[in-house]
Amino acid sequence: MALDSSDTSFLPTRLTLPFCETASALHQTGFDFPWSAESFRSLLTLPSTIGWIDETGLLVCSHVCDEMEILTICVAPAQRAQGRGFRWLMFLFEYARAHQVTRIFLEVAENNTPARRLYEKAGFSEIGRRKNYYKTKSGFCDAVCMAKTLSE
Ligand SMILES: CC(C)(COP(=O)(O)OP(=O)(O)OC[C@H]1O[C@@H](n2cnc3c(N)ncnc32)[C@H](O)[C@@H]1OP(=O)(O)O)[C@@H](O)C(=O)NCCC(=O)NCCS
Repeated sequence: MALDSSDTSFLPTRLTLPFCETASALHQTGFDFPWSAESFRSLLTLPSTIGWIDETGLLVCSHVCDEMEILTICVAPAQRAQGRGFRWLMFLFEYARAHQVTRIFLEVAENNTPARRLYEKAGFSEIGRRKNYYKTKSGFCDAVCMAKTLSE
């Protein structure tokens, strides 16, 4: 299903099965080993998965009880470094608070400076590392594990 690029408000659409091809195409712009449409479809079969998509990007999370984990976030290339990623995270925090989520976790590649800065700006702190967790085209890379506690 195509996305409406004339919509300038920030009301992302829930990521559902018809958007999996679009989600995969967007993911290809941000990752060395992007998720296929089939990967998005499999993820969406899990009751814990929740995601959103719009013409600015996508965000996919797992939500179990009072915890969420960011599984992936990707802003469309032409829209990066304009505050979109931050806005997506603010949107997530609003959703999380409304659903009694108290902690949000994520993992980010050590060498992904834009993403690490984005997460730090949004209040995430490092809580650990996973050695050689990510495979990239230039070799393996550690994951930085981060968390944010949501206040009222
Ligand atoms: C990471 C990503 C989501 C950031 O989205 P974005 O819309 O560009 O981020 P924002 O414009 O909201 O920037 C927020 C902060 O991140 C940092 N940042 C963003 N782009 C940056 C860059 N190219 N270099 C350094 N820092 C950067 C800045 O600190 C910025 O805050 P500031 O503008 O006040 O300085 C985006 O670059 C992306 O989609 N990358 C490819 C996919 C990816 O790596 N996802 C994360 C996987 S963990």
